Amino acid sequence: MSSLVSIRNLTKTYQRGPEKVQVLHGIDLDITHGDFVALMGPSGSGKTTLLNLIGGLDNPSGGEIDIEGQRIDQMNDAQLAQWRSHHVGFVFQFYNLMPTLTAQKNVELPLLLTKLGAAQRKRNAEVALQLVGLADRGSHRPNELSGGQQQRVAIARAIVSDPTFLICDEPTGDLDRHSAEEILGLLQQLNREHGKTIIMVTHDPKAAEYATHTIHLDKGELTDTPATH
Ligand SMILES: Nc1ncnc2c1ncn2[C@@H]1O[C@H](COP(=O)(O)OP(=O)(O)O)[C@@H](O)[C@H]1O
Ligand SMILES: [Mg+2]
Repeated sequence: MSSLVSIRNLTKTYQRGPEKVQVLHGIDLDITHGDFVALMGPSGSGKTTLLNLIGGLDNPSGGEIDIEGQRIDQMNDAQLAQWRSHHVGFVFQFYNLMPTLTAQKNVELPLLLTKLGAAQRKRNAEVALQLVGLADRGSHRPNELSGGQQQRVAIARAIVSDPTFLICDEPTGDLDRHSAEEILGLLQQLNREHGKTIIMVTHDPKAAEYATHTIHLDKGELTDTPATH
């Protein structure tokens, strides 16, 4: 299997006032197509920073990020935005849904960046909502849905444009155990049955059981590397 993500000597330094804070210290990481990677580590260890770099939400300070042969570390902001819209689906801890829009319209949002017409956008969003088990909730607004349902809408929104991979930052961090397991089961299904590559930050040791690989970050360094093939 070919590498989807290939990271070499990745560093990230933030400027905090007069102070430079190095958060990632030369990360090497390979992620293969079809992997479901759980990224674990203490709070402040740099998990979100690493995830955002892989998802092209931020620029590294040094090193290389090659994703399917594209060096995203060398892209400018406009190129990166374009690349993200084609390749990455994002799922966040607090869902980040638009409160005034229905579930259906929330899921359609990423498609506004594509050339699809209104009827096709509607159909694709319906398919995505069906996939997450919410076909009958399309007309509900976020505040009319439970936390677990809102996260499922967010997952539908993340997959609606059929991205190359999903980036999930503590997707179950705000959910009760039962809803958390539903969300993890759904992510596992997307990985196993639909071949979606998933990179997920989690604090939950149980969450790692759903993944195909677990890696640990501590103080900006990976303490292990996944046994990719
Ligand atoms: N935009 C930023 N500016 C300055 N420091 C930041 C910024 N984002 C994160 N940090 C710092 O980088 C470190 C790692 O943060 P983060 O990647 O969010 O860790 P984690 O997700 O593992 O909790 C923390 O010390 C945090 O304070
Ligand atoms: Mg974080």
